[in-house]
Amino acid sequence: MKSPEKYETLLSQLNGLTSKETDRIANLGNISSLLFSELNLLWAGFYIVNQAGTHLVLGPFNGHTACTRIEKGKGVCGTSWAEERMINVDDVSRFTGYIACGPSAVSEIVFPIKVEGKIVGVLDLDTQTPNAFDRDDEIGLGKVVELIEKLW
Ligand code: SME
Repeated sequence: MKSPEKYETLLSQLNGLTSKETDRIANLGNISSLLFSELNLLWAGFYIVNQAGTHLVLGPFNGHTACTRIEKGKGVCGTSWAEERMINVDDVSRFTGYIACGPSAVSEIVFPIKVEGKIVGVLDLDTQTPNAFDRDDEIGLGKVVELIEKLW
């Protein structure tokens, strides 16, 4: 539930953080940290498609420890990957196949990261409140994902 102005500020902070660094792990680490703190999240991070193209593997993140592997098509993350679409879940208890990776997540939003026509990973954000992500968040975070795709 953040405003478009908040996302404009966030985008310029992210640009500043990443524009001079070429290392992907370093950039994804800082991006997850900034999203985690600026959006008051329970968990913010990346899952990255493995070389075999069968699983998502835990990447840089901020928050509690999490499952390390998610099969394609499973959970919110694996479904976002398989169906190549953003998934915004108001209440994870109503998402069939939801994978609980830690304490008390209620809302979750997952964006596929697409580079040169292929999904390379997902951005996963969790909160402890229901209905946490509205249309402004979907648009603002969509721009964040575009930035991530450019620097991948
Ligand atoms: N809940 C996710 C798993 C990842 S954790 O939330 C960090 C899912 O259902 O894919």
